[in-house]
Amino acid sequence: MKRIDAASHVRGEAQFVDDVPPPAEMLYAAVFSSSVMHGKILALHIEDARSLDGVVAVLTAKDIPGENQIGTVIPDEELLASEEVHYVGQPVAVVVGTIPEIVQKGVRRITMDVAELPAVTDPKEAFLEDKIIDTPQVFALGDVDTAWQKCDLIVEGLCDIGGQEHLYLETQRARAIPLEGDVICIHSSTQGPSLVQRHAAKILGISNCRVEVDVKRLGGGFGGKEDQATPWACMAALAAWHTKKPVELVLRRADDIRMTGKRHPYKSDFKIGVTKEGKILAYEVKHYQNSGSTADLSLAVLDRTLFHSTNSYFIPNVRIFGVCCRTNLPSNTAFRGFGAPQGMFVMESAIAKVAEKLGMPREDIQAKNLLKENDVFPYDQQARNCRTRMTWDKAVESYQLPEIRKRIEDYNKTHFEMKKGFALMPVCFGISFTTTYMNQASALVHVYTDGSVSVSTGGVEMGQGLSTNILTIAARTLGIRPGRIKIESTNTTRTANMSPSAASATTVLNGNATLIAIGQVLDRLRAVMAKELCVPEKEKITIVDEKVLYNGNETGWTWNLLVQTAYLNRIDLSAHGFFATPKIYFDKAEGKGSPFAYHVFGTAIIEVTLDCMRGIYDVDSVKIVHDLGRPINDLVDRGQVEGGLAQGLGWMTMEDLRFNEKGQLLSGTLATYKVPDVYFMPDDIEVTFLENAEEPLGPYGNKAVGEPPFMYGIGVFFAIRHAMRAFRPQNEFTFTSPLTPERVLLQLYYEKSH
Ligand code: MTE
Ligand code: HPA
Ligand code: MOS
Repeated sequence: MKRIDAASHVRGEAQFVDDVPPPAEMLYAAVFSSSVMHGKILALHIEDARSLDGVVAVLTAKDIPGENQIGTVIPDEELLASEEVHYVGQPVAVVVGTIPEIVQKGVRRITMDVAELPAVTDPKEAFLEDKIIDTPQVFALGDVDTAWQKCDLIVEGLCDIGGQEHLYLETQRARAIPLEGDVICIHSSTQGPSLVQRHAAKILGISNCRVEVDVKRLGGGFGGKEDQATPWACMAALAAWHTKKPVELVLRRADDIRMTGKRHPYKSDFKIGVTKEGKILAYEVKHYQNSGSTADLSLAVLDRTLFHSTNSYFIPNVRIFGVCCRTNLPSNTAFRGFGAPQGMFVMESAIAKVAEKLGMPREDIQAKNLLKENDVFPYDQQARNCRTRMTWDKAVESYQLPEIRKRIEDYNKTHFEMKKGFALMPVCFGISFTTTYMNQASALVHVYTDGSVSVSTGGVEMGQGLSTNILTIAARTLGIRPGRIKIESTNTTRTANMSPSAASATTVLNGNATLIAIGQVLDRLRAVMAKELCVPEKEKITIVDEKVLYNGNETGWTWNLLVQTAYLNRIDLSAHGFFATPKIYFDKAEGKGSPFAYHVFGTAIIEVTLDCMRGIYDVDSVKIVHDLGRPINDLVDRGQVEGGLAQGLGWMTMEDLRFNEKGQLLSGTLATYKVPDVYFMPDDIEVTFLENAEEPLGPYGNKAVGEPPFMYGIGVFFAIRHAMRAFRPQNEFTFTSPLTPERVLLQLYYEKSH
């Protein structure tokens, strides 16, 4: 089966929020935002905007009937700034009018007097000024302090890790429609429909049941719409509330990039101690997260950094410290990997530095320290069904690492200005929201009298193929053709209290909820069938290809006949299924627990060619062995591996966010912010899924796949570094990302030592 939306996407028929024909008298909204990093609002001048022909309303914090608060984890975020502004791009007012051009003009007519206050953009500076969110978090295992004495070599270093713009194709947007009886319906491009519902209700001062949020699909989210789709939906709702008209708010690309948060930049200090054979005995790391102006999801992101700070390695003595530092930038937020990439990058940097000092190949140190079955992570969980070594060995063997090594050595001996490099990148990624209560989902299934089926879940289709997965699961479980099943939009009236679609867990959670709901309907249908056939064991009744079988033999009954018979016997043909991931827990104060249902394992080998005269490089190949459990839909799963890899490669190499000293984003357009394109991606990508690797939690043996492959991209940094060292063996290179061609060139020729 192909992805169910492939044809409609290719033809441009798939509808997004603003593709649906506008309802009568719909108005448009645009946002006026702060142009300073930090300051006290002295006066806001909206009169010139309000007097513009076609402007219907200009709304500010004063116009919020409920509570001006949209912080999800900590209530520290206003929808519209009331007294102070904390970053360039912070929303202050919403202009509503009859056509988009007029409201943009209105925005340009607003001015604001601000008394500027000191601002900070660097996380370590913020930390020193005690601008932190919540208390720092520490995970510890063994005893690092005494372990240093047993080490033959101790190396220290620092990483300066860049952020990343999500660049979903569809910018942030929402359409709010007022309905009868103080009810509002919001079509939002959000990963978290229930979050939009709760916050819109809070902003309007009404109860959750009066807000209906409907999501058909997203043109990409990548974490950028887990929390940060909420403000725009709330602003549209606020405007609809005041004007009593439908209102649409669509961010222009430049505004989206400027106003929304990104992947968190980190500054991290590491210290690593090894034996002369390269066994890691101790590792200490301090992560200073650049959280931006509000908490948003930063604390959870930091937790995931800590959980993944030792990546695929077992280290007996570890201390991991992390702190969220409040800076005057747009609040950074969820982005594929959710903090894990930063933690892993520092670990890989520490290994690189040790390897260079010991004069050993980096991959030899990696191989010596790989995680084994039952090894304990610094947060106390044990590695179970650990396939780190399996994926590593399979990658080394089937992709012929010795040959790669030899080929690259030979190439480098015979080439002066061109150098090749390679790196191995193992990944071990925990599956489940680390915030345990979020690991719940529900599904609603209706079977209609003609035998067709409707499935609603709390999962959002954001391009990752969720609808295709849910459809495959439903069709397989029911034993009917996929064409008879409709996957519905995600809607808060049909599905309540959903967790955002995130943490790669959407299919795990909502797929299992779908299985449970369908199981209930099937159970009732089997009882009807057993009665009709006068057989005692209803468990022996199965449905295959829309035929009803007993004990594997045809009964002459079809799915349609069974459904009709059940209906005439007044049997309930609808069911609600609820799933909560079993056996997970975590004590945040202690930093101990078993927060993950399981881990996803894999290993990538990345090869690059570097032009040492120009600093430019090509990624020649990426070869991956990935632990997927059993594919639900092979093409969807492969798409996720390749797409995640592309984003990871971009983060490490070319995606360079630059702010000036006034906190204005300099790389705020696609002319200045480069992302990988089809030419950058290697022609040679191989992905092998481990066989016989079924995950019992499923559904259908499947393992979550959305985020883990992102982190294979980290390997490209070390492959380029490898090539740089072949050209300049004496230089000490930094661990500063992204490793843009410009940075490569500077380090090869100007920044000789550190
Ligand atoms: N793939 C596409 N095409 N578009 C997306 O927005 N988001 C990623 C990943 N893959 C994303 C994607 C992120 S951040 C996550 S957490 C998962 O998909 C979410 O979906 P899942 O839970 O179904 O894997
Ligand atoms: N991943 C993604 N989103 C989340 C998480 C997580 O672990 N926890 C809370 N939101
Ligand atoms: Mo993904 S960062 O968990 O939305």
